[in-house]
Amino acid sequence: MPDPQLVLAARVQDALSAAFGPSYADADPVIRPSQFADLQANVALPLAKKLGRKPRDVADEIVKNLDTAGVVADVQVSGPGFINLTLSDTWIAGEAQRALQDDRLGVPATEHPQKVVVEYSSPNVAKEMHVGHLRTTIVGDAIARILDFLGHRVVRDNHVGDWGTPFGMLIEHLLDLGEDAAARGDSSVRDLTAFYQAARAKFDGDEEFADRSRSRVVALQAGDPETLRLWNVLVDVSKNYFNTVYQRLGVTLTDDDIKGESFYNDLLAPTVQELEDKGIAVISDGALCAFPPGFTGREGEPLPVIIRKSDGGYNYSTTDLATIRYRMDTEHVDRMIYVVGAPQSLHFQMVFAVARTAGWLTEGVQAEHAQIGNVLGTDGKILRTRAGSTVKLAELVDEAVERAGAVYDEVQHDDSFDEATRAAIVQDVGIGAIKYADLSVARDSEYVFDFDRMISFNGKTGPYLQYAAARIRSIFRKGGLTPDEATGPITLTDPAERALALQLLGFGAAIEQAGETAEPHKLAGYVYSVADAYTTFHENCPVLKAPDEATKASRLALCAVTLRTLTTGLALLGVPTPERM
Ligand code: ARG
Repeated sequence: MPDPQLVLAARVQDALSAAFGPSYADADPVIRPSQFADLQANVALPLAKKLGRKPRDVADEIVKNLDTAGVVADVQVSGPGFINLTLSDTWIAGEAQRALQDDRLGVPATEHPQKVVVEYSSPNVAKEMHVGHLRTTIVGDAIARILDFLGHRVVRDNHVGDWGTPFGMLIEHLLDLGEDAAARGDSSVRDLTAFYQAARAKFDGDEEFADRSRSRVVALQAGDPETLRLWNVLVDVSKNYFNTVYQRLGVTLTDDDIKGESFYNDLLAPTVQELEDKGIAVISDGALCAFPPGFTGREGEPLPVIIRKSDGGYNYSTTDLATIRYRMDTEHVDRMIYVVGAPQSLHFQMVFAVARTAGWLTEGVQAEHAQIGNVLGTDGKILRTRAGSTVKLAELVDEAVERAGAVYDEVQHDDSFDEATRAAIVQDVGIGAIKYADLSVARDSEYVFDFDRMISFNGKTGPYLQYAAARIRSIFRKGGLTPDEATGPITLTDPAERALALQLLGFGAAIEQAGETAEPHKLAGYVYSVADAYTTFHENCPVLKAPDEATKASRLALCAVTLRTLTTGLALLGVPTPERM
């Protein structure tokens, strides 16, 4: 499906090259949306300066050379030299018709498929997931789905924190409680926050326990089989917990996607060795450090990436360096996207810099930190419970579904639904609300977690979009046909039909941009514009009661393309769309 903007850009470029010579064939035609036409080409102004001519003359010259055939219905030069372009209704209708007949809505798969690691969620074993993890999970899953759709080879990667010194005390605490407590699913183990805090308290207050814990860390790192078995018990409890969260949210991660920090354990020593051999890592204050150029502290002192601590232990950065090496040497990836909280920005910049210096990250390979902004409460501070502790994710989801139920019953509830149907709808609405709210904001900006705003059937919300789709489905039910049976042909007469069809043509460009920049909010915003254009259409253009059969067939076809655009777009965001609402 050709994006109108790209189609016109190509036409204007051809005109530029015809008028001013082939060197202008790649010039930026400066195409912008305009209130006076569909689009405006503003290239005449910068070009006139360069050529030393009047912008209006340059604009006239471009227009004279512009091939409008089939695409452009009207061209006007306005103001100092803006070129106003109006697309032909027939062209728009034809492209919408093509989308209708295509499985992929006319969105082609990429011509340059890449192997892309999308690393996301990455919670820590033996710890509760919090809203920060919720957001990286939701955004990361959308990025993975979008890149999949575009035809890339996506490797989902859940880099769980399953290794390190805390496991000494966690294993000892498990032994104190009795291993069968884990097998029984006892709350002392299952409640991860309580489990962690109890272990921590003993570690801080009980010398004997602390000593045992330290020896346990040594045993774990030495690969003692019994210790590894106990460690696995803990990892499994957490994995089960993560999976319940993923299933509840409709997140595509499975156990197969887990490559935790422990996975890279054997690669740490050789990674460090190579950095030493290459002279990149040096001893500083007893620790082995790399100092990537350009990173300095407040006093201008070079900042270290600590590769090996003075006690001989490896750390978070070491694992991330080993991970990059593994992805390059073994997985041969073209792009790595780290969907991780914004506070870790410096860490990733420095790790990437060291990996480039070491020659592990080569020039053609993109490594990017897809930063996730903090989630704030309605008071503008980091989200906490009233008691001041971090909000547990499961409770947050429960509350969303409960509140969705109340709002739904108030505004939307169709009494003919049985209880199970209602429950399924409300579940989708609650989850959809949380997910769309997370996705509609630029991922790197902070965002306020506000139930009232996200669970509204008005405005830029999940429920509004879900309802738009459900409303179209109900037209088909009432009309006694399925969306697939609407075959057009699409013709455009009413301005609301035209505006909707034009909006639908932007789907491919929206997905592509979202994938290229790993920014799902671009797709989220697009899907909202479609629903908005549909709402205007719905208010102005009767479908089943259209004035004649041809108009009815055309409007049903427009409804069908809109429905598929909405459901496909929302599916790429991981937002469910209930059949009925
Ligand atoms: N487990 C970490 C956390 O919860 C996130 C891991 C991010 N990924 C990475 N490669 N360092 O904060």
